[in-house]
Amino acid sequence: ARLRDVLALDDFERHSKPLLPRMIYQYVAGGVETESAMRNGRQAYQDYGFTPRALVDTSARSTRTSLFGKTYSAPFSIGPLGGAAFVAYRADLALAGAARSCNIPMILSASSLIRLEDVISVNPDAWFQGYLAGDFDRITRMLDRVEAAGYRNLVVTVDTPILGNREHNIRSGFAMPIRVTPRVMMQSVTHPRWLLGTVARTFVKHGAPHFENTEADRGPPMMSRKVRNTVARDKLTWEHIAFIRKRWTGPLVIKGIISPHDAFMARDHGADGIILSNHGGRQLDYAMAPLRVLPEIASQKGDMKVIIDGGIRRGSDVLKALALGADFTLMGRPFLFAAAYDGQRGVEHAYSIMRDEIMRDMAMLGVNSVEELNESFVRKVCP
Ligand code: FNR
Repeated sequence: ARLRDVLALDDFERHSKPLLPRMIYQYVAGGVETESAMRNGRQAYQDYGFTPRALVDTSARSTRTSLFGKTYSAPFSIGPLGGAAFVAYRADLALAGAARSCNIPMILSASSLIRLEDVISVNPDAWFQGYLAGDFDRITRMLDRVEAAGYRNLVVTVDTPILGNREHNIRSGFAMPIRVTPRVMMQSVTHPRWLLGTVARTFVKHGAPHFENTEADRGPPMMSRKVRNTVARDKLTWEHIAFIRKRWTGPLVIKGIISPHDAFMARDHGADGIILSNHGGRQLDYAMAPLRVLPEIASQKGDMKVIIDGGIRRGSDVLKALALGADFTLMGRPFLFAAAYDGQRGVEHAYSIMRDEIMRDMAMLGVNSVEELNESFVRKVCP
């Protein structure tokens, strides 16, 4: 298949699935336990239909969106994706480069295999997502490094005190560090494009990959079995958020909020934004679909920005989220499958598809800018 056969974001998953070992495909595509949180996150977008306005001159429409003092070309961005470089060659750099050329945000994951300093040199506007331990000294060391590298926007993910129950990883034999078992060997040699183009190419040019962006890193994930960055994450509390807020001068965003209570706690702790997210259904199963809590949270957000993710696959999904009060959206899996399919070019193509869908729908909705969207453009569909 070629890029011009990729017409919609879901095509990337379909086309890259046969190129990836099952363990890698499952690592990206899967959710936890019953996968209800993942399914519902996406399904919630079916709850709403549009009530468009006809006979509006939309010839000057634009998808431009401002966030934290910057104007981006579209109201969506690339969410943090840990272990991305297991999926595609130096994927974080492909994602960062595409985000730069398309002028959208890219959030680098703490669990990346690429150094945060290297990513910001490719994209000076990249945001950094931290997985932080509940330990003031370790937080300080991490923030010092992130700040020194030149990051301005900090995202702290709070839905991962420990890792969710990812049974599919156990079933497929995937682990970080990767354990070279006969099953893993078999999956690898039967996917030579991945084995040579991602794994071998990385080893030859850059050596064994490490989790580079956490001060607790203990060694290469392909070799060592020592405990890594998950240490003491379950000790992180609002006290640490208050500490980070005092210490971090740039925009601070809390990711992984679902309950309205926590949204207002984030606001009261001085967060500039939250990411309403159930981690794409990868952490707590049955965590509510972000879209279903959005209206309640958006109505009381004050100056705090509300970003939403999970299951967004169409321009229409983005427009529904914005109409219900979100300021911005993120996507995870589709961009990673796009990187697996065709590196930076694939990611840029994913961006174009999404932006074109939004532009087209804006004309048919009768809006010239994303700021014009509000609840009057959608209706809840009766079940
Ligand atoms: C993630 N996600 C994630 N989130 C985070 O805060 N830090 C991380 O390191 C990761 N790592 C990660 C890896 C992979 C492979 C996936 C698929 C997801 C969650 C991600 O940022 C986002 O919340 C979801 O992916 C959004 O759902 P969709 O768009 O994938 O449906």
